Order: sequence, then structure tokens, then C-alpha cells
Amino acid sequence: MDKIAIGVVGAGAMGSGIAQIAAQNGHDVFIYDTQVEGLERSKSGLTKITNRLEEKGRIPSAKDVLARIQFVDNLKQLAGCGLVIEAIIESVDAKKSVFSLLESMVSAEAILATNTSSLSIASISAAVKSPERVLGIHFFNPAPLMPLVEIIPSLTTSEQTTRQAKELIDSWGKTTVIAKDTPGFIVNRVARPFYSESIKMLEEGVADLATIDWALEELGGFRMGPFKLMDLIGHDVNYVVTETVWAQFYYDPRFKPSITQKRLLEAGLLGRKTGRGFYSYAEDSEPPEPNKDPVLGQYIVDRVLALLINEAYDAVFMQIGTEQDVDLAMTKGVNYPKGLLEWSREIGVSTSLERLQDLYSEFQDDRYRPNPLLKKMAKAEK
Ligand SMILES: NC(=O)c1ccc[n+]([C@@H]2O[C@H](COP(=O)([O-])OP(=O)(O)OC[C@H]3O[C@@H](n4cnc5c(N)ncnc54)[C@H](O)[C@@H]3O)[C@@H](O)[C@H]2O)c1
Repeated sequence: MDKIAIGVVGAGAMGSGIAQIAAQNGHDVFIYDTQVEGLERSKSGLTKITNRLEEKGRIPSAKDVLARIQFVDNLKQLAGCGLVIEAIIESVDAKKSVFSLLESMVSAEAILATNTSSLSIASISAAVKSPERVLGIHFFNPAPLMPLVEIIPSLTTSEQTTRQAKELIDSWGKTTVIAKDTPGFIVNRVARPFYSESIKMLEEGVADLATIDWALEELGGFRMGPFKLMDLIGHDVNYVVTETVWAQFYYDPRFKPSITQKRLLEAGLLGRKTGRGFYSYAEDSEPPEPNKDPVLGQYIVDRVLALLINEAYDAVFMQIGTEQDVDLAMTKGVNYPKGLLEWSREIGVSTSLERLQDLYSEFQDDRYRPNPLLKKMAKAEK
């Protein structure tokens, strides 16, 4: 059977990466953007990347991959696609108007997907007459390198759409997990405390940036400390995701953003891309030295991990994903050294619970309230 053609709307960072994956997997790809410069940038970027892959022997021919990708300036050219993945700006109105236009152009069997990180799939689906063919297919950045893809059916998505989309993305060698259409899906929900609890410790004066990053990298085994990672992601993106998740959860204190990070955003200190965020990236700047006190380091790791584990249990408890998918999501989507549920069993579930209870009694803040499933599992462990 011939492979379906894949449409991509939005030729930015994510759209270009998704186009590359689809073309490397033998699909004809049509990538559309409203900005001609966007298309040009995508084309030259993909040319560079695929040539490099060919040089390294990772793909047989860059020319073949590029020949499969058409850069188009009219959405109608996506009419023959069996799957269209939208990756335009994160605006519900813009996305809805793309979906309603697309619906009138593609065949009745075509699947329409959004790569949104923070909007509800339900709200985007509402723009079309046949919402059973709409779902979320959420890639991580950089899409060609990150193995995880969250598949997010909404209330109105048909089982067939979900199955077909999952099978296709699996066939591209990605690890897929099914996530419920709730704020942040799995990864962007469970990961919040990695950032927020680290900033909170900084604000409380528990330790400085470099020490918190050192502890989570060296003692926690995370690939990159939270402050370095936030600077890399950019505070415009990272803060906005936190604030959106918090607002969508009706201001649950567990997801509360931090003023410290908001100030960086307001000052335009967005991280690496502006030369300064939590750290300075000026050429003459010396990176600050961490305090390598092992007791302090372990306190930092234990505190962040207790909150992450609590969120992982909450995601399972609230049926956002299965236990297996929640663990897979965090190892394959954000490179955590271990799945959080697995990690909790290694530490001892009751130890994780006690740490949270200690934090709760110290701060009397609902962000530390232990999840009922964590409590149940701690009891069962005993
Ligand atoms: N960057 C990430 O880390 C990341 C990760 C996962 C998901 N996402 C999501 O993917 C989507 C795209 O993000 P990005 O980082 O690639 O953004 P980007 O800014 O790099 O690219 C967006 C592109 O969409 C184009 N565009 C805007 N409106 C359009 C329209 N109406 N029709 C066609 N093209 C239009 C822009 O010209 C631009 O080229 C967003 O929904 C974002 O939340 C981003």
C-alpha cells in the first residue's frame, strides 16, 4: 500500500522537525506556512540537517528525503494528505481557523492533528464539523531526536482515529503514550515541580542556582539542572506553560508559577537566547561555583523528587495515563533518569510520602498535599 501523504501546517521549529521525520519515513510531505521567509528558513534548515545526517551515515540520501518535502504557500496543496499535523503559533483562535479551513479541503477520511502543548484538544476540535477525526499528536523539541509522542484523543475523537494515529507514529520508531485531554497532558503536567520547587528553594535561600543545578544533575541523575534547562527552553515558553497549566487547573497551588521567573520574563531576560536568564551567557562571565555539601545536595534532590513523584501518582490517579505510560513519558519525553513511579518504589513509597508530609507540616501549603494513590500505595507497601 502506498504511504499516505502528510501535511504539516506551520514551518517553525516543530513543523520542520515533524516534516523531517515523516519524509525520513518515506512519506510525501507538504509543509505550509503563511510566511514565505518561514518556508525558506525551514527549507535551508532541513537541507543542512539532512546533509549532516547523510555525512554521518544516519540516512542513505539527503537528496531523497528533501525530494519528498514540498514547501507550499497555499493550504489547498494539502488536499491530498491522509494526516495533517498543525504546528502553528499557540493560539486557539488561529488553530481553530486552520482546522475549519482544512476540513473543507481534505478528504473525509483524513485525520487532523494538533501539536499544541497547552491548549485543549476539545476546544480546537469544536471548530470542525467532524471532530471524531481530530486529536492531539504532541511531539517534543527537537522532534526528530526526542523519542516520545503523546497521543491525545479528545471527548469527540473516534477510537479509529486514535488507533490509526498511534499506529502510524509508532511505525516512525517513536514511543507513543496515550494521554487524557487535560492541561499539560502527561509530561508538561508531571514535570512542573522540577522547575517550580527548584525556584521556590532558591527564593527561600535554601541554596543558590548553581548548587541546586549541581545537586539535581550529580546526585539526582537528571541530564540538566532546572535553572540551566529553563534558560535553555526560554522563560517566555517555560513560564507561560506553567501559568497556563495553573490557570487551567483553577489555580491549584500545586501548579503555582513563581514571581522570580515572571520578573525574568518581564525584564526580557529569556535565557540563552537573550544572553541572560537565571545565568549570564556573556563571554566574560564566570559560571558560579556550587556548594557541593552532600547533605544539602541530598535535601534538594529529595524535595524535588517528592513533588515529582506526587505528580506522577496524581496523573495515574486521575487517569491521565497508565502507570506504564506515565513512567515512559518522563523518561522518553524529558530524559528523566528513571520513571517516577519506579523511582518511588526504589526509594520506598512511604519514604516519598513522609517527605511530602514533612513539607506539608512545615509550610501548611496545599502544593505539598499528598495524592490519595501515593498514600494508598505507601500503606500497601507496609
Ligand atoms: N517549541 C517547542 O518546544 C514545542 C514543543 C512541543 C509543542 N510545541 C507546539 O508546537 C506549535 C509550534 O511551535 P513552534 O515552537 O514550532 O513555533 P514557531 O514559532 O517556531 O513556528 C510557528 C510557525 O507557524 C507559522 N504560522 C503562524 N500562523 C500560521 C497560520 N495561521 N498558518 C500557517 N502557519 C502559521 C509561523 O509563521 C511560524 O513559522 C505550538 O503549538 C507549540 O505550542 C512547541
